[in-house]
Amino acid sequence: MRVGIIGAGWIAEKAAITLNGMTDCEAYAIGSRSLEKAEAFARKWNMPKAYGSYAEVINDPAVDIIYVATPHSHHYDVTRHALLEGKPCLVEKAFMANYRQAKDIIDLAYERKVFIAEAIWTRYQPCVGIVRQLIAEGIIGTPRLITATLAYPMMKKERIFRPDLCGGALLDVGVYALNFVRMFTDAPVATLDGHCVKSDKGMDLTNTMTMVLEDGIVANLQSSAMCVGDNTGVIAGSEANIVIDNINNPQTITVYKRDRVLVDQISVPQQITGYEYQFSACRQALIDGLLEPREMPHQETLYVMQLMDDLRAKWGVRYPMD
Ligand SMILES: NC(=O)c1ccc[n+]([C@@H]2O[C@H](COP(=O)([O-])OP(=O)(O)OC[C@H]3O[C@@H](n4cnc5c(N)ncnc54)[C@H](OP(=O)(O)O)[C@@H]3O)[C@@H](O)[C@H]2O)c1
Repeated sequence: MRVGIIGAGWIAEKAAITLNGMTDCEAYAIGSRSLEKAEAFARKWNMPKAYGSYAEVINDPAVDIIYVATPHSHHYDVTRHALLEGKPCLVEKAFMANYRQAKDIIDLAYERKVFIAEAIWTRYQPCVGIVRQLIAEGIIGTPRLITATLAYPMMKKERIFRPDLCGGALLDVGVYALNFVRMFTDAPVATLDGHCVKSDKGMDLTNTMTMVLEDGIVANLQSSAMCVGDNTGVIAGSEANIVIDNINNPQTITVYKRDRVLVDQISVPQQITGYEYQFSACRQALIDGLLEPREMPHQETLYVMQLMDDLRAKWGVRYPMD
């Protein structure tokens, strides 16, 4: 699968490193607003094609899938363009600025019969299957409480602070905490609440999110762009709990009984970077003629976008595109 990367930024580099380590996917083209920047990126990561515009990547017939790696604020236009040209897309999280944009894009993809997926890498990782299996086997009894934190100090990232770039911790890292809950229970959210501290431009910098799910699970989540979080996730059941060491790229899954008695510890398989699973899933979905990946159906992308809209509405965090 030849990948055309759009936007030569931080995550684009991680994608190029990942694709260079894969045998069935290729970092084929990079598109930047600056040809000089694209050429430097292509040289650095040994890529065959460099373009000084996003449109040229979309129009390259050799590109099998567009990987959208611009800030969330700029996902919509480039993805829409790609879909209108019939190009499959893998779009970085947060998928879009808001639910309305996400629905619009997914409707267009269905209408044009073009594959589209959200690049929320955790959804595609082996940890999901391992933990789901542990829960299904009843090792923790009945799940009752989910806690998760994701926080990085991102004070130097301009897009975190700018409303026009869809700033804030929620869309950047909080999205992983919300997905952490959705990965392990299908129960709808019955009630949702939260609090945040905002920047002077009104972007949420540190937040807390609480949900009661229809199956009786309570989830308590935190995210921040201002501190070093423990980034741990815990699923606590009536008999035991499962601790996931890093909800952003799980390495170790540990089960404890009451009084922290160790029951089991599982390491995930060796990885390139952890991003390879999302590319492999897209490749397989394209081979199978699907319009969405099995690991992250469109309904899930939309569900999480709606939760983020609801939280932002409560907090008064608004973007120009709302
Ligand atoms: N999955 C993950 O683990 C992960 C990690 C980090 C970020 N992300 C996601 O990836 C996306 C990009 O994040 P990033 O950290 O890579 O951002 P970044 O380093 O700021 O890069 C974004 C790139 O987008 C392009 N761009 C287009 N319009 C822009 C504008 N008005 N302002 C700034 N850049 C613009 C630029 O590329 P050109 O100059 O080349 O056109 C820029 O280099 C976000 O949606 C973010 O949530 C995901």
